[in-house]
Amino acid sequence: MKEDYPKLFEPITIGNVELMNRVVFPPISTNFALENGRLTERFVKHYERRARGGVGLIIVENTSIDYPEGKHMPFQPRIDSKAVLKDWEWLAFEIHKHEGVKLSVELAHEGWKKMGVDYLSPEKIEELVEKFAYSARLAMDAGFDMVEVQSAHGLLVNQFLSPLTNHRDDEWGEPTRFAVEVRKRIAEKCGRDFPVTIRLAVDDFLEGGITLRTGREIALTLARAGYDMIQADIGLGPKEKRLEPMHYPQAWRAYLAERIRPLPVPVAAVGMIREPAVAEKVLETQADLVILGRPLIADPDWVKKVAEGKEHLIRRCIGCSECIKAVHDEKGPIRCGANANVGNEEEIPKAPRKRVVAIIGAGPGGLEAARVAAMRGHEVHLFYEVFGGQLTLAMVPPGKEKISWLIEYYRNVLSEMPNVHLHEGETTKEKILKLNPQAVVMATGAKPFLPCSGERGLITPFDKVLRGDVKVENKDVLIGGGGLVGVETALYLARFNNRIRIIKRSPAILPEVERITRGYLLRELEERGIHILTGRRFVSAGEGYAVVENTETGEKEMVECDVIVGAFGMRPYVPFVVEGIEYHIIGDAKSVRNIASAVREGYEVGRKL
Ligand SMILES: Cc1cc2nc3c(=O)[nH]c(=O)nc-3n(C[C@H](O)[C@H](O)[C@H](O)COP(=O)(O)O)c2cc1C
Ligand code: SF4
Repeated sequence: MKEDYPKLFEPITIGNVELMNRVVFPPISTNFALENGRLTERFVKHYERRARGGVGLIIVENTSIDYPEGKHMPFQPRIDSKAVLKDWEWLAFEIHKHEGVKLSVELAHEGWKKMGVDYLSPEKIEELVEKFAYSARLAMDAGFDMVEVQSAHGLLVNQFLSPLTNHRDDEWGEPTRFAVEVRKRIAEKCGRDFPVTIRLAVDDFLEGGITLRTGREIALTLARAGYDMIQADIGLGPKEKRLEPMHYPQAWRAYLAERIRPLPVPVAAVGMIREPAVAEKVLETQADLVILGRPLIADPDWVKKVAEGKEHLIRRCIGCSECIKAVHDEKGPIRCGANANVGNEEEIPKAPRKRVVAIIGAGPGGLEAARVAAMRGHEVHLFYEVFGGQLTLAMVPPGKEKISWLIEYYRNVLSEMPNVHLHEGETTKEKILKLNPQAVVMATGAKPFLPCSGERGLITPFDKVLRGDVKVENKDVLIGGGGLVGVETALYLARFNNRIRIIKRSPAILPEVERITRGYLLRELEERGIHILTGRRFVSAGEGYAVVENTETGEKEMVECDVIVGAFGMRPYVPFVVEGIEYHIIGDAKSVRNIASAVREGYEVGRKL
């Protein structure tokens, strides 16, 4: 309820614009615009859906003020000429249908990260200042409430601010000069009353770059120069610090906002703020506003649910990085591992007729199928042995606890749906058929696969280890299989003073994992002294040793070890087939993939039933 979070729901003014609460949806590139920078219906719907959730301020994603030169995303929107004004009017109109929600846009230019700004002529700099101001005026004319100047993440304005990229000996060598000129010029074009906020690099997280001490001085100068709110963000340094994997603790970088305060204008904290209680705490001591990016991708109704006392129904962002993989690695439209509705933003319609549906398996696919089928009005029977399925294993390795949030979400949501019936225990075909279902969904996941060596008893499957059925402490461990499961099992076992090696057949390590998370995991392995021996195939096991083969030379070697843990991969598990009834197989039971695919297929099948 609002009363439980008084800070979160306390209005605040930015310049002369009042926000109805302290939650800001920050720029998150969607790749929903067209390649030529024009907006699409999908783009507008995405933001409109977030406005419907009651957020105080929406800042539209990284938008090019200088197209195509300053563009750096394949499907990046542009706000650089009168020709696109109509697009932005359309967006502003849709957002402002929602009472109280304010709208801004992130004005951005990629700059020249490698070269810095040293080579820009004064005329070129002047032209860039003018372009920021021109774009701000377009936004104002389109009906926006304010604009934001992107001055972080190593982009153009950050390049002027940082000693690593600005070595000029003219007036533009003064780090804040460019940002100050931009603010002045926007005031000239839009009037001093039109608010301008800044997403500011207050720490480059790189040797020789902006430090929090210089960052505070920069923030003070820019607040005095007229910026009306400052987001304490990160500069040129590693992406891991600003697109953090799930392993990072909540609100870990809110200290950046805290340390640049007090300022004469509000300060916003950003990064890994996920739960209302954490957000409230940040607002009590560290910042004036909280930025919720991925949380509002995963659940656009985050604010509304908190206001209505339904925070137990929030689908919290689990930090799976599927959104980052989609946008940054694949350069495609954004998607969410927890929320399959991203990109559709549809209301789930009632089915034309109510049916009895049996869903077998309560992993992410089965749970999502149950939720959506129940929303369609069906009588849903969910059969399972373990509520959460493989999520209960995925949440065990270090730093992966947030995965348990997804299980909690489904438990809470399904328990409030009177048409969902839970059947825990062994599932048999007879039990299912007794219900006379009109549709059956098989979402039984996958089971670990062990190589056929005839020495199976000598290999412990990874799931037994993660479940705690087999304790491995202070041992020499060989892990067979260097995929994500093998790597995470290794990191889990490292907690118990084990010495660990991993063998892996192919040379590529974790190619399927989003790049930032991959980098994080590889560093973790290194820090724990865990080696991956690539190009090795497991051949057989004996008491105290394994035989592995070099896949290039065919040479075999004996590797001594106390324990062999099998993480060779998973095979779809389908315990029985049902005939004569509408029948679907989804998730890993269909083919082994990840949480995101299971949720998506659960959604799609639920939608079809
Ligand atoms: C897929 C994705 C795209 C992003 N795109 C932008 C962007 O266009 N501009 C920007 O300044 N930050 C961008 N960010 C960073 C977010 O605005 C935010 O700072 C970051 O996700 C941390 O906040 P969160 O933990 O609440 O998500 C992006 C983040 C993600 C996950
Ligand atoms: S894809 Fe994963 S990290 Fe991104 S918003 Fe969804 S749950 Fe969060």
